[in-house]
Amino acid sequence: MTASPLTSWQAYKRLLGYTRRYWKLFLLAVVGFLINAQTEWAAAQLLKYIIEAIQEKDQSAKNLFPVLIVVLFFFRGVGSFMGTYFMSMVARHVVYALRMDLFDKLLVLPASYYHSNSPGHIAAKLIYNVEQVTAAATEALKTIIREGTIAIGLFAYLFWTNWKLSLSLLLVGPFAALLVRTASKRFRKLAKRMQRTMGDVNHIASETISGFQVVKTYGGEAYERNRFDQASLKNLKNGMKMVVTGAINTPLVQLLMAVAMAVVVWVALQPGISGETSPGEFVAYITAAGLLAKPIKSLTEVNEKLQRGIAAAQSVFEVLDLDNERDTGQRHIGRLQGDIEFRQVSFGYDAAQPVLKDFSLTVPAGKTVAIVGRSGSGKTTLVNLLPRFHDAQQGEILIDGHRIDEYPLTELRKQIAAVGQKVVLFDDTVANNIAYGAFNHLPRETVVEAAKAAYADDFIRALPEGYDTRVGQDGMLLSGGQRQRLAIARALIKDAPILILDEATSALDNESEYFIQAALERVMVGRTTLVIAHRLSTIENADWIVVMDSGRIIEQGTHAELLAQAGAYAQLHSRKFAEDEPSETETA
Ligand SMILES: Nc1ncnc2c1ncn2[C@@H]1O[C@H](COP(=O)(O)OP(=O)(O)O)[C@@H](O)[C@H]1O
Ligand SMILES: [Mg+2]
Repeated sequence: MTASPLTSWQAYKRLLGYTRRYWKLFLLAVVGFLINAQTEWAAAQLLKYIIEAIQEKDQSAKNLFPVLIVVLFFFRGVGSFMGTYFMSMVARHVVYALRMDLFDKLLVLPASYYHSNSPGHIAAKLIYNVEQVTAAATEALKTIIREGTIAIGLFAYLFWTNWKLSLSLLLVGPFAALLVRTASKRFRKLAKRMQRTMGDVNHIASETISGFQVVKTYGGEAYERNRFDQASLKNLKNGMKMVVTGAINTPLVQLLMAVAMAVVVWVALQPGISGETSPGEFVAYITAAGLLAKPIKSLTEVNEKLQRGIAAAQSVFEVLDLDNERDTGQRHIGRLQGDIEFRQVSFGYDAAQPVLKDFSLTVPAGKTVAIVGRSGSGKTTLVNLLPRFHDAQQGEILIDGHRIDEYPLTELRKQIAAVGQKVVLFDDTVANNIAYGAFNHLPRETVVEAAKAAYADDFIRALPEGYDTRVGQDGMLLSGGQRQRLAIARALIKDAPILILDEATSALDNESEYFIQAALERVMVGRTTLVIAHRLSTIENADWIVVMDSGRIIEQGTHAELLAQAGAYAQLHSRKFAEDEPSETETA
């Protein structure tokens, strides 16, 4: 599944690839920085010019000097603005593109990705890691090009003035390169660890936040605090390690440069050499050499950010390179009938542990099949195979006589409406939660109609702003039964030929259960329904009942047939009957 991780160079090139789309802006930025860089060595040259003018008592040249200063700074300003502005524009666009690519990828990753990565870790990637890339892209790229062009310009100027002398500057090159390289490796390693710890911090925080009631009820404060503290401490230690690496690296490189400079100055001051050059040339040379210190310092300092960005880009590209949900179906369909057939299906989340074993079942269009069985027997897993959240390892699943992977995923999923035990609501209005996603364009009357059929209209009208009331994050403002009815209305709106009800009524009190049961029975009319139920009446009314255990069917038949067999179902029934009896009389 996972591609081998990219080398830092590959990640770097790929990141640069993102800038290709904005090459015109990039070019403008480079032009700006080039202009800016010329003003550095030009300043040294200007010094030479004024010293010579003084020596030669050339008044007209002296008069020109103030003008030249202003002109120099004018170009410096223009160049710097152009460079900074256009480079930031490119960098911000790159980050935007990267973040959108990552989000788009999340939408097409298979369910298994979501099972093996926590929401906290995924969110950290989307937010922290991408932001680290910004740091690299904006700050580092800007510094590298601005200071890089300055350094190159100054070097060129030095060589042009006195190439022999300047050669000694290059002697430190290999040493500096070695230092920077060693530091880079360490930076990258630490940056990766930093991302991981950020993911942990985010993960623990979001768990505690969303589970605050459990934390409070069971006195989990100390436990959560300790967990969070551990993760944050790791993060802190890592951050300090990076600081130390940077704090050692920058002065070392600077020291090297200073040694080289000292050598240059010492050589330059030797009588044989300084005698040959004019004072103006000499001052200009030393000034230019001195000006080199700043770009070199900035370049070594920026290395940390650059390495962080590269490490972050690697982690982002790793996700972008994961396989998508397999979606190769070409059989385009309008609306299917809803004939379902499982043919000797075997499936396990991991190969070692099969959850479904040789499972076969036929559900004719429009019929209702109830699936019962102990918790953990594979019921949810079975119905999740229909919309292809997972693909069966063996056997095949057919709808209307064709393997489900022959249909394009979106079209297949259009045929299936599902109401589960856990209702997912979005922080939006009631109406938009009912007409969610692809159904957002539907007129209000349709939404109200669905709500009425789901016995939700009454309570919705009683809300402060009716259908336009926002339900709060994850529908916090609604009760379990109300949420469930919204989910049923949502399924009704979808009007799909296949309906999956996975313990849709299990978390409810008796009164809402009565309404929801009635609502569900309406929804089931004319649809192929797979209902995982614990409620007796739903099971009894089904056309066919399947009893599952450990991923296999152990009994199947109609209610009457199964009772007559006096097997597992009959046992279950007598137990259920005892449970359900009081509630039936209460609600009836
Ligand atoms: N995402 C998952 N990853 C690994 N194992 C899982 C996952 N979901 C369920 N299982 C396992 O598969 C088995 C069947 O689970 P499930 O289909 O949810 O049963 P049921 O719905 O009948 O209670 C259980 O042993 C459960 O631990
Ligand atoms: Mg289940």
